[in-house]
Amino acid sequence: MTDKALSGIRVLDMTHVQSGPTCTQLLAWFGADVIKVERPHVGDATRGQLRDIPDVDSLYFTMLNHNKRSITLNPKTPKGKEIFTRLIEECDVLVENFAPGALDRMGFSWERIQEINPRIIYGSVKGFGPGPYQDCKVYENVAQCAGGSASTTGFDDGPPMVTGAQIGDSGTGLHLALGLVTALMHRERSGKGQRVECAMQDGVLNLCRVKLRDQQRLSQGPLREYPQFPHGEFGESVPRAGNASGGGQPGWAVKTKGGGIDDYIYVIIQPQVWEAWMKTIGREELISDPEWATPEARLPKLDQCFAMIEEWTLTKTKFEAMDILNAQNIPCGPILSLQELAEEPSLRDNGTVVEVDHPTRGPYLTVGNPIKLSASSTEVVRSPLLGEHTDEILRDVLGFSDNAIAEARAAEAIGSEHKLHEDEHPVPMPEAGA
Ligand SMILES: CC(C)(COP(=O)(O)OP(=O)(O)OC[C@H]1O[C@@H](n2cnc3c(N)ncnc32)[C@H](O)[C@@H]1OP(=O)(O)O)[C@@H](O)C(=O)NCCC(=O)NCCS
Repeated sequence: MTDKALSGIRVLDMTHVQSGPTCTQLLAWFGADVIKVERPHVGDATRGQLRDIPDVDSLYFTMLNHNKRSITLNPKTPKGKEIFTRLIEECDVLVENFAPGALDRMGFSWERIQEINPRIIYGSVKGFGPGPYQDCKVYENVAQCAGGSASTTGFDDGPPMVTGAQIGDSGTGLHLALGLVTALMHRERSGKGQRVECAMQDGVLNLCRVKLRDQQRLSQGPLREYPQFPHGEFGESVPRAGNASGGGQPGWAVKTKGGGIDDYIYVIIQPQVWEAWMKTIGREELISDPEWATPEARLPKLDQCFAMIEEWTLTKTKFEAMDILNAQNIPCGPILSLQELAEEPSLRDNGTVVEVDHPTRGPYLTVGNPIKLSASSTEVVRSPLLGEHTDEILRDVLGFSDNAIAEARAAEAIGSEHKLHEDEHPVPMPEAGA
């Protein structure tokens, strides 16, 4: 058992769907005691979304809520408010990603939360920051569109595209996790909590930083590493760049042997490996040809460069090409399908792809903690069933007696959803914080 970096930190987790749960899952992986508050008998909506097995928590839910405990509690009831207030007193961090104003409507404004516990850190995700859209409800793709990602993704002659990477939801959850840990560090010195807010639009724009760079470069002339150069047109705004490299080194996805939809390799023509490239593809005559030998000379004919390279890659599988190019320090990477990633042994070995057992669904694959700490390793613990820890949390965190728990249940402040069946195996939760 390693010493968990965040052990002793208790998180009151009011999050749902993806953005907030990504954040609190990271905190839980680092050892925080994350208490997920869910609506009695309903729970996080994702428990039932995209279900692959009837009446079993969806993979959407299980893959975003590892290492947490679940309590069902309705802070809209008088008794529920009392319990929620006591939980605020006992927690270091409160996180939520409801639609704007939802927590205030429950009677828990930031002012009230601070009154209850001046040391608490209150984190929230919203779609937009202060401004014309501050009251909007927002999901992933809306954030991708509003944050500059969609307008810069896809091909020039196609519509704006959203990406498969969940940069609006999971990306903002990551930003929030950093904000919360930073606020915890600050509390060490100041003794005070503070509010941490992350807007999904801001988070996406932060990840599109290089596109705002290019927007400003555009006023100085065409973007010469973009596929629109030199034959196409540039308008007033950064165009979609297809598979062109976002950095200063030209890159493209070229086809490989096999002809499958993911039989591609992404290759980069770093200036220092031009010679190695030309030797590899059998075009030694271009190594010192002034028409090709310098990055400047190549910029107007990158399409021809990648076409020459593709002639060669088409004779190799993406893995053969990878081995040959890698041996020469040529930057490149295979386009991997999710099936290939799920089966990749090295990802299993390093805990990035993990098989988890679940009492009602059985074994499933998930992505483990991508952040590896040498002194605080992550054990991925299955997600909690709805209300699985209601009684345990009331007893251990708030010191409730069995009678007090029964009273709260009779007052419909807490739910009575889940009792483990005999064939279900409770999995020990990470140590609770002090
Ligand atoms: C994601 C989102 C669009 C979902 O909207 P939604 O399904 O309508 O859910 P809401 O956040 O409005 O919450 C629904 C209601 O449930 C209530 N609720 C939540 N937990 C509850 C609980 N434990 N007990 C009782 N009521 C509860 C809320 O108080 C709210 O009620 P209200 O509208 O009467 O105030 C919205 O929450 C949102 O915009 N969040 C911020 C941005 C974000 O994180 N988006 C990405 C999600 S991955």
